[in-house]
Amino acid sequence: MAENIHPIFDSTLTRASKEELLRQRAIVVWMVGLSGSGKSTLAKGLELALHQRGHLTQLLDGDNLRSGINNNLGFSDADRLENIRRSAETAKLFLNAGLVTICSLISPTAEIRNMAKNIIGEADFYEVYINAPFEVCAQRDVKGLYKKALNGEIKNFTGLDAPFEEPQNPDLEIRTDQEDYAVSLQKLLDAIVPRITFA
Ligand code: PPS
Repeated sequence: MAENIHPIFDSTLTRASKEELLRQRAIVVWMVGLSGSGKSTLAKGLELALHQRGHLTQLLDGDNLRSGINNNLGFSDADRLENIRRSAETAKLFLNAGLVTICSLISPTAEIRNMAKNIIGEADFYEVYINAPFEVCAQRDVKGLYKKALNGEIKNFTGLDAPFEEPQNPDLEIRTDQEDYAVSLQKLLDAIVPRITFA
């Protein structure tokens, strides 16, 4: 816990004022799923589609965050927890600036996801499970990581020798092994656009 720290709370310039300026309601869309499930592809597609509809967005992707603010973290349970903590705190900053914030991070356990939801606040946290079975992700192997992990060249690989607990009650589930990209994207838009529309 931070000691002798006194955060400022600006009561005159609120998140609501910023949302009004941007003519949108802010939300955090938190995309969960195995490596290769399609999180980043759908997150990018969603961001572009929302931008084209006039929304101000920010994308926070695991690989990108791990290249910067989280570049001292690996894939142990403790490092993943810290990775998600920092990522959720970062998402909250964008949320409070009024942006539609799209996070694509494996977020492999219920504990980790609950922490993210608590940091962001339940009302602003929209969890999307990007679901494709391990075998399908391994078959796709877009980055060649599954081959390496199955050869023992990567340790603590999600779904192999590190856990992946399926979300039990996501706000939305997308089956990328069963439907086309365009269908998945439309489902995301149908769910999210009404939540961010300024009334
Ligand atoms: S986590 O579990 O939420 O902290 O992971 P995240 O920050 O989303 O990072 C996942 C990306 O890291 C790459 N990578 C690995 N993933 C899983 N397990 C291991 N051991 C690993 N090592 C590297 C991989 O590119 C992941 O990106 P995605 O987009 O999920 O494929």
